[in-house]
Amino acid sequence: ANVHDQQLHRGNGGELHQFAGDGYDVLTTAQGGPVDDDQNTLRVGARGPVIIEDFHFREKIFHFDHERIPERVVHARGYGAHGYFETYESFAHYTKADFLQRAGEKTPAFVRFSTVAGSKGSFDLARDVRGFAVKIYTNEGNWDLVGNNIPVFFIQDAIKFPDIIHAVKPEPDRAFPQAQSAHDNFWDFISLTPESMHMIMWVMSDRAIPRSFRFMEGFGVHTFRLVNAKEESTFVKFHWKPKLGLQSVVWNEAVKINGADPDFHRRDLWQAIQSGNFPEWELGVQLFDEDFADSFDFDVLDPTKIIPEETLPVQPIGRLVLDRMPDNFFAETEQVAFMTQNVPPGIGFSNDPLLQGRNFSYLDTQLKRLGSTNFTHLPINAPKCPFHHFQQDGHMAMSNPSGRVNYQPNSWGEGPRESPDSGYRHFPSEEAGQKVRLRPESFADHYSQARQFFISQTPPEQRHIAMALTFELSKVETPAIRERMVSHLLNIDETLANKVATALGISEMPKAADAAVQPRQDLEPSPALSIIEN
Ligand code: HEM
Repeated sequence: ANVHDQQLHRGNGGELHQFAGDGYDVLTTAQGGPVDDDQNTLRVGARGPVIIEDFHFREKIFHFDHERIPERVVHARGYGAHGYFETYESFAHYTKADFLQRAGEKTPAFVRFSTVAGSKGSFDLARDVRGFAVKIYTNEGNWDLVGNNIPVFFIQDAIKFPDIIHAVKPEPDRAFPQAQSAHDNFWDFISLTPESMHMIMWVMSDRAIPRSFRFMEGFGVHTFRLVNAKEESTFVKFHWKPKLGLQSVVWNEAVKINGADPDFHRRDLWQAIQSGNFPEWELGVQLFDEDFADSFDFDVLDPTKIIPEETLPVQPIGRLVLDRMPDNFFAETEQVAFMTQNVPPGIGFSNDPLLQGRNFSYLDTQLKRLGSTNFTHLPINAPKCPFHHFQQDGHMAMSNPSGRVNYQPNSWGEGPRESPDSGYRHFPSEEAGQKVRLRPESFADHYSQARQFFISQTPPEQRHIAMALTFELSKVETPAIRERMVSHLLNIDETLANKVATALGISEMPKAADAAVQPRQDLEPSPALSIIEN
């Protein structure tokens, strides 16, 4: 449209109107009623009171008043894009998931990247974990791989999730800090939660300040299960590897970018996709069986552990290409509902207690956030394959069963029926034991992998970790919390612990934290840190 040719009409009070006609539709109410004047409320005389009879005004304001829905309780700030997943080769040997059977098959996908701790309006370059949630609209229902850009997690059991999130979000009395982990509550919780040490090393590393979403890895984190047509099961860890490689900014840059352009990451994704520069990731898998799992000195059900890629290489099985931005941010990116429990036949769960808890949490939270059990009726959440069920009614039901039948079995020869052959069958793993609240001993080594991560970093990266810990802990006002953190660092890398303690002005070095399992000694301590100068 020509912005200089707007066909404006001046009203009685000098206000400007634009009229329908000449190809412009008539403005209507939500009920479809045509609107004559959208600039003035209905009044008794031009200078008189507004009257309640003005249904157009009331409907317009009513709708506006209810525009906001609760932001996600975590991962509130996010940005999404559409694309597709392309299968490289038939993966039938490991899974019966239909979309993974044929080379070259493309399946539509939607991805939402996010930060975790900040509110919806927070800035993009917070030091934080990034969500990497992928919905693949397979022909056997949606598969949601709701992952992060870090392959491990803070806690081993979902029952601790409210605690870690309460601790990282703004402190309840003062309502700050908004999007930083640098505060007493967070570090208090972490220092009392040794299982978080591996994750903390990643969060203090450059991984937590990515250059853009396009330069991040993604991880399913948990051990999942693949099941093939012969009902044979293989354990699997999922990895997304960016075509562009990994890039981060340094803290100094992150702080400046946050001030200058808090939308830096979303703008980057928008501009890349709008200019045809489509970001791409390979989906890789680490595959293993029970025997291989038993050969580790950690537990594959423990989400604070990785399986080193040197030990078990990641095999690529397909690629994800993001090639289209949503038409509407709210309808798609805000209303998309990811749920770990969305799996097609051929993909299943392990007994990881964090995963098991997540499988409850996501469905529950969608009702709160989206307001209706019918959130699957929203186009972004609806499956793209045929679907038939007897669920009905509820708020905003868009599609109820048609005809007489809304139950089964029935005598009327109507409606969908069960399918023992193609239906989802949970893998019949053998499970037995006492009903207990008991963390397995195999989850107790909290330091070895933290140390392994640290020593695998290059000298500049190690220096960044030391600087990040120093900066973050310098914001902690309670000396005992700082010291408790240093006592954990002593179990990870002594040079690192000394460096941080000195920078924090801790004159008397605390003792190393009591470790349930001593960190592995066969890992090389880091020679690199000796070159840290500042
Ligand atoms: C949201 C990842 C652990 C509860 C999210 C999102 C991601 C994610 C990526 C954002 C989804 C989106 O973009 O819409 C993870 C990962 C975890 C983890 C990788 C650990 C490995 C947990 C746990 C719980 C939980 C243990 C609860 C027991 C939630 C909730 C939301 C959420 C309630 C908000 C969902 C929504 O409103 O749409 N998580 N999460 N998460 N997560 Fe997790």
